[in-house]
Amino acid sequence: MSKVGHSNSQDFPIEESALIQQAAETHHLTFSEITKLLADDACEELLCAAADAVRKQFVGDGVHLRGLIEFSNICRQDCMYCGLRRDNGKIERYRLTADEIVMLAEKAKGYGYRTVVLQSGEDAHFTAERLAEIVRRIHALDLAITLSVGERPREDYAAWRAAGADRYLLRIETTNAELYERLDPGMSYENRVRCLRDLRELGYEVGTGSLIGLPGQTVEMLARDILFYQEIDADMIGIGPLIPNGDTPLGKAAPGDWHLTRRMVALLRLLLPEANIPATTAMETMMPRGRELILASGANVVMPNVTEGDYRRKYALYPGKICVADTPADCRACMGGRIATMGRFVATDKGFRKHQPRKR
Ligand code: 5AD
Ligand code: FES
Repeated sequence: MSKVGHSNSQDFPIEESALIQQAAETHHLTFSEITKLLADDACEELLCAAADAVRKQFVGDGVHLRGLIEFSNICRQDCMYCGLRRDNGKIERYRLTADEIVMLAEKAKGYGYRTVVLQSGEDAHFTAERLAEIVRRIHALDLAITLSVGERPREDYAAWRAAGADRYLLRIETTNAELYERLDPGMSYENRVRCLRDLRELGYEVGTGSLIGLPGQTVEMLARDILFYQEIDADMIGIGPLIPNGDTPLGKAAPGDWHLTRRMVALLRLLLPEANIPATTAMETMMPRGRELILASGANVVMPNVTEGDYRRKYALYPGKICVADTPADCRACMGGRIATMGRFVATDKGFRKHQPRKR
């Protein structure tokens, strides 16, 4: 842990600015130091400016765009916050065919995306072999493939990896096992961690992340989340605020704190400097221009939607989702313009994690 000559004990308080500088230089903070910065809204601008500098130093000015294909909203799980949960009878369910999914990937390539993210609920229709065949067809298009289809046995992950999948997104949501199991009934924290470890061992780039503002979640728990991401050396970390969905048991919960989420993104950049960190859709659902603000606070990835037509609206994790009336071409042009206005550029490579020669 921290070897810089100071103590973090209560009787020897350290200035937040010194802590931020230390994080920017060493990429290490203790649990109590992380907690302190997360809880302190006065230091937010300083923290985000430091994260922006570390972002520039480690991953540069290129913003990676990943084309998101939401191919099925059918889910066997029942997470308390999520609109796709199986007990939600109000949502219109859909599932794209293999040909439709591949066609969207072809179009994504046409818009210049080098990566597609195939995301769905936990839909048993997509057996290991069915999804492997889709992965093979998209891999043949010379696109990087990120899968985000939930918890599966190791054999399924292995089959998709062999078929050409490069990355996998599976948010841990919270590393507090008790909170996790309360909000994701019928699921086990242990199995979720097992999935992340299997994915890593199979050679995927592993993406995970937290939902910010779960009822009962504390800043201490979020600090533990960051230490967990360091421990598993996460390649990608996606963070978003809880947006209460009226069709779920958490419909009346308080929304996640946008600024706390921003501080979390900034700390993640300082402490995992090489990671790919998206400015997530949920951040912009809560705040106009939210994605630009997060891109200027440590993030370097955006995942514009390439799903077409009414399916965008039907993939309703939470209400108020942006871009539901836009086309994939609209989103590509919109993000390209916004990134250029920031003095950044759209990266043209596939955007794998770049490991720095110096190792922590
Ligand atoms: N608000 C914000 N994010 C949500 N997710 C699911 N439901 C909500 C919600 N109500 C997030 C989860 C999941 C990701 C795909 O969407 O973190 O991992
Ligand atoms: Fe969809 Fe701007 S990203 S319209």
